[in-house]
Amino acid sequence: MATGPDLFSLAGRAAFVTGAGQGLGAAIGRGLAKAGAKVTLVDVDGAKAETVAVGLRDAGHEAIAMPLDVRDEAAFKLCFDAAVERVGGIDVMVNNAARTPSTSLWDITAEEWDDVLAINLRGSFFGCRIAGRHMRERGAGRIVNLASIAGQQASAATGAHYAASKAGLVALTRAFAQELAPHGVTVNALAPAAVRSPVLDAMEADQRRRLAAGIPVGRFGEPEEVAAAVLYLASPAAAFVTGATLDLNGGRLMR
Ligand SMILES: NC(=O)c1ccc[n+]([C@@H]2O[C@H](COP(=O)([O-])OP(=O)(O)OC[C@H]3O[C@@H](n4cnc5c(N)ncnc54)[C@H](O)[C@@H]3O)[C@@H](O)[C@H]2O)c1
Repeated sequence: MATGPDLFSLAGRAAFVTGAGQGLGAAIGRGLAKAGAKVTLVDVDGAKAETVAVGLRDAGHEAIAMPLDVRDEAAFKLCFDAAVERVGGIDVMVNNAARTPSTSLWDITAEEWDDVLAINLRGSFFGCRIAGRHMRERGAGRIVNLASIAGQQASAATGAHYAASKAGLVALTRAFAQELAPHGVTVNALAPAAVRSPVLDAMEADQRRRLAAGIPVGRFGEPEEVAAAVLYLASPAAAFVTGATLDLNGGRLMR
């Protein structure tokens, strides 16, 4: 096992982050790059991912961007393979892409239900399976899935389809963790709540105030705090952590 400063080092590692064009995905991409990883940033909005990658390259980091819709398994595989080809292998996979509607459960259409599940759950399944096969062959790797407090307790801020997708993602995390543990690959989930992001910024002031009032630490989380948790789970220090869900919620849910 690594010791000393190497315990938290990602120098020379390569990471692949989905939904990295804004919000937490962009912060995670930046955090991984600053920790020394070569990052591949993908998003259905390729231009936004490219802007994040350009910012990182300008600061001297190794970052590339590609457009990817995680709903499309064949496109996902091509994109992942292109990243592998470019950097020689992926060490860290972050399944972050998601759609976060707040539609009342009485109004969710079949089409919206299917789309949220297709992005949040099926897309992450593709990501886990594509990266999992690659990492299993290499005998090493780290997969981190972005779940949510919405999958752990009832939430008025996000829809039932979103909550169901995030609860499913925790089950999926355990299933992949179980399969991949003997192969040197860990699979964990993060369950954030109320982290500053475009989704949160888009909420009405009243709703934001109500949300902040229910957080024991008295503030929203910062995207960099989510990135820090990804860095930990991706680092040598977390080699014995797998199948876990790490809560990042300012004490809003203690379990
Ligand atoms: N911000 C929070 O407070 C919070 C709380 C709990 C969980 N999360 C989770 O963290 C992750 C990031 O959240 P965020 O707030 O940054 O969300 P966001 O909506 O700001 O960003 C999501 C990104 O995913 C991309 N995306 C959407 N559909 C895609 C697709 N089909 N293929 C590829 N990319 C796609 C979007 O273009 C966007 O860049 C999500 O999984 C979310 O559920 C966030």
